[in-house]
Parts: sequence; structure tokens; C-alpha cells
Amino acid sequence: MNSKNIIHQDKKAYDILAKLYKTKVKSAEHDHRFIEKFLSLLEPKQEILDMGAGTGELSYEMVKKHLLKVTAIDLSKKMVRMAKNHYPELNIQQMDMRDLKFSPKSFNAVFVNYSLIHIPEPEVIKVLKQIHKVLKPKGYVYFSLQEPISKKQEDDFYEVIYKKQVKMFINLIDEKEIRQYLKKSKFKLLWIGRRESDKKTEYPFNKMFVAAQKM
Ligand SMILES: C[S@@+](CC[C@H](N)C(=O)[O-])C[C@H]1O[C@@H](n2cnc3c(N)ncnc32)[C@H](O)[C@@H]1O
Repeated sequence: MNSKNIIHQDKKAYDILAKLYKTKVKSAEHDHRFIEKFLSLLEPKQEILDMGAGTGELSYEMVKKHLLKVTAIDLSKKMVRMAKNHYPELNIQQMDMRDLKFSPKSFNAVFVNYSLIHIPEPEVIKVLKQIHKVLKPKGYVYFSLQEPISKKQEDDFYEVIYKKQVKMFINLIDEKEIRQYLKKSKFKLLWIGRRESDKKTEYPFNKMFVAAQKM
């Protein structure tokens, strides 16, 4: 399957999952320390882009708790609709992260929480270059990624744990790969964090958290 079809497939999957997503997905509770560590780099009122924001919980938290100016985007119309229903004042719109419609140097930071994982390998660099372009000088980027824990695990379509009939493409990215991507797209790595999967509610892959800065 080519990249275009893979992304279309995941878009359809999120349109189906939108209503369940908010109640079923609890990763943010496990990831809090990494998210907080990243957001501590920013000052209130700075501009952040939440890419693949889903139903908007973290975007809303960034507005209310961290007092950031948040712009959120997501590819799935239904995820965007759910976010707007829950948080009417949230600035969220439908947009593909591979084709950002923002002026260069618009944001102090870009937050990419478990959404780059849906971009097939040949397109990852394109997305990182887009992020680089919309960041202000020395701007920050954050990724939450799914890391393979064995050689058997490959980029593929995996069953969604809370809705087995739906399969989703996951690009598993290891430390070597992310370091190469960052280097190629002119980011300096700041730190990497990890935690194990909560296999009852999440994909079995370890989670990797990456903060980097535009060079
Ligand atoms: C695992 S969810 C994460 C949602 C949110 N960041 C969170 O942590 O709760 C991945 C999200 O990425 C979105 N997504 C996938 N491909 C995308 C693309 N090419 N452009 C923008 N969003 C995309 C999906 O629609 C989905 O809402």
C-alpha cells in the first residue's frame, strides 16, 4: 500500500474511533512527567502548535494550565468535531501535518503526541521539514513515539486494543532512526525519555519521548 492510501486508511480509522477515543485512551496519564518536562521550556503566552491533536484534551490543558496560545490541527474531521464539542473555545481545525498552512516562524513549539506514528517512513522527513519551517528560531519540538521492542515488530497495520475490528498503521521508530531524522531536518536533540507500555490499554510497544530544538 502506498503512503497516500495508508494515511487515508488511518484517517478513516480515527473517524470511526472519534467517539470512543476520549474515554478509552489514557496514555496522557502515564506520560505526564515527559509532557510537563517539555512544556516547562515554554513561557505563558507563547505559541504552540498541537499536531494531530485528536479530541483536544492536551491542547485544552496547555491553554488552561500552561497559559499557552494553542493552535491545534488534526486530519480526522470527526476527531476535530469531538474536540470542538468538548472545548468550543479551542482553536482547532482539520489539516494534514504533511501540508501545513501556517506562515514560516509562527510557533515557539510544536507538540506531536502519538501522531507522527501514523506517517509512513518515506514521508517523515517531509513532516519534520514542515515543522522546522513553521518554528521560530530556536523553537522546540516534542514527539511521543512507539518504539519497537523486538526485531519481529515492523511498521504495519495493528489492531486497536479497544476496538479490535479497526486496524491502524503504526510507524515504529527507534532511537537510531529518530536521531537520523532530527539530524537530516536540522534539529538538535535535547533529551529522550522512555516508559514501558501499559499493555492492558495500549499497543505493546515501548513509548519513547523526544524533545529537540531548531538549529
Ligand atoms: C493517537 S492519536 C493522538 C491524539 C492526541 N495527540 C493525543 O495525544 O490524545 C493520533 C492523531 O493523529 C491524527 N493524525 C494522523 N495522521 C495525521 C496527519 N497526517 N495530519 C494530522 N493529523 C493526523 C489522527 O487523526 C489522530 O487524531
